[in-house]
Amino acid sequence: MAHLITVELTKEKKSKPAADKLGFGKYYTDHMFIMNYEEAKGGWHSPRVVPYQPISLDPAAKILHYGQSVFEGMKAYRTLDGQIQLFRPQKNWERLNKSHARLCMPPVDEDLAMEALERLILVDQDWIPEEQGTSLYVRPFVFATEPLLGVASSKEYLFIIILSPVGAYYAEGINPVTIHVESEFVRAVAGGVGNAKTAGNYAAAMKAQELAAGKGFTQVLWLDGVHRKYIEEVGSMNVFFMIDGKVVTPALNGSILEGITRDSVMQLLRHWNVPVEERTISIDELYEANRNGTLQEAFGTGTAAVISPIGELNWNNEKLVIGGGRTGQLTSRIYDTLTGIQNGNVEDPFGWAVKL
Ligand code: COI
Repeated sequence: MAHLITVELTKEKKSKPAADKLGFGKYYTDHMFIMNYEEAKGGWHSPRVVPYQPISLDPAAKILHYGQSVFEGMKAYRTLDGQIQLFRPQKNWERLNKSHARLCMPPVDEDLAMEALERLILVDQDWIPEEQGTSLYVRPFVFATEPLLGVASSKEYLFIIILSPVGAYYAEGINPVTIHVESEFVRAVAGGVGNAKTAGNYAAAMKAQELAAGKGFTQVLWLDGVHRKYIEEVGSMNVFFMIDGKVVTPALNGSILEGITRDSVMQLLRHWNVPVEERTISIDELYEANRNGTLQEAFGTGTAAVISPIGELNWNNEKLVIGGGRTGQLTSRIYDTLTGIQNGNVEDPFGWAVKL
């Protein structure tokens, strides 16, 4: 059933940035979607597409004090024959609601969210960049607006979707990144909120990220918060390693984000009959595999990061160079196939692409 989504068009369209200036999340389109939740008014109401604009918040809004906030990330692509395509968007709405459940936030109607997204993208479709490696990044987010300082879940929220034309997430583009393995700080522990896409996980990661960046590393690889020895995730991506012909990735243990690209890569590998395992992987195992010559490739996966080859790890000042610091063959094949399916240039045997 179609929902009543109103549309107010902007009177002043912005100029669009050149493709080589895009970077990640620096520019926003002309419109946004917004919808309110008020328990006293029966729940979610007033879904609308409006000109992109600032929002005003009461200084007591709960998001500002207690961090009740979740977000998602997905991408829209323009195919060679001019159609608009999304990649497994239903998975994002499912995950959004899982994050909501963990943060005591009311669920969003997934059909309404999908309809809102389609409406917004169609309004701003001229913003979908067409150059190789670019896309329109979609950022849905929901946060608590009730002006009440008692620590309890909010009875009021805003759900917003903004769109941003993007290029590569990392300055390296699709070249291998260097990663610091964190041994002082932890990102999350099982039972906490590490597997929810909530703002606080990203705030918790910033200190280590800043220190690592100061030493020249692109990202931080998190170890588990209890033993400080098992690999978890990078924060902006899940991680995979190819050891002795087998691809391994950390099993979802309650503190790792359930990446949609992660799941897609595992399905792709199984489709190609490449052995893939989800299990615990210790940092020692990686260094040992490197010593005996069986660590062949490493890469990260994420919506923003896509498939990002990992060329080097650094753990307690011990450097580990993977595959000579170059992008591995399997990593390239996954990158080409996945991005091909995402932008409509490669056949999609999985039914992942959703055309608008
Ligand atoms: C994404 O890949 O969409 C993310 O949400 C990661 C990020 C840029 C924080």
